Amino acid sequence: MGIDKSKALIDHAKNQKKRKNITNIDFSCEELGVDYKHSDTYDFSMASLFFHVIPTSEAVYLMNKMREISSQMIFCGFSCPDTMQHKLVIWLDQKFSGHYRNFVAYQKFGYLEGIMEKIQCSNVKTYTTYIPFIKIYMVN
Ligand SMILES: C[S@@+](CC[C@H](N)C(=O)[O-])C[C@H]1O[C@@H](n2cnc3c(N)ncnc32)[C@H](O)[C@@H]1O
Repeated sequence: MGIDKSKALIDHAKNQKKRKNITNIDFSCEELGVDYKHSDTYDFSMASLFFHVIPTSEAVYLMNKMREISSQMIFCGFSCPDTMQHKLVIWLDQKFSGHYRNFVAYQKFGYLEGIMEKIQCSNVKTYTTYIPFIKIYMVN
């Protein structure tokens, strides 16, 4: 099940699914937030470049929700930059994004690691990507 609040993106995903004759994926256009209720369970749940665009209270709620409904979570997102140059690149990327205020709160919260710490994630494996300040985390 793939979820995004953007109808254009969900329509695109649905078209790709049809074009490639894929039958084991569904897509749903929904706005996720603290009123999100979902009771189905999954082997994996995944959030990619998502938690920095929403308010941190919602990020904490939704990460907890993912843990509740899945055995393993995979996150891809901004991690604390190591250098001033990387910090500047992220700032430039986010400043004109439309969710800058949420990004600043995410930064103050300690990036993705801060949210994982808040919900007391243990057994976290971290993988680097070719972008130094974007990491992938697998949580059991
Ligand atoms: C930075 S993009 C990441 C897109 C994609 N997941 C990726 O990894 O490339 C953030 C996405 O989150 C979606 N989004 C933002 N707030 C949302 C919400 N409250 N519920 C569902 N989707 C949301 C936006 O429509 C956008 O497509």
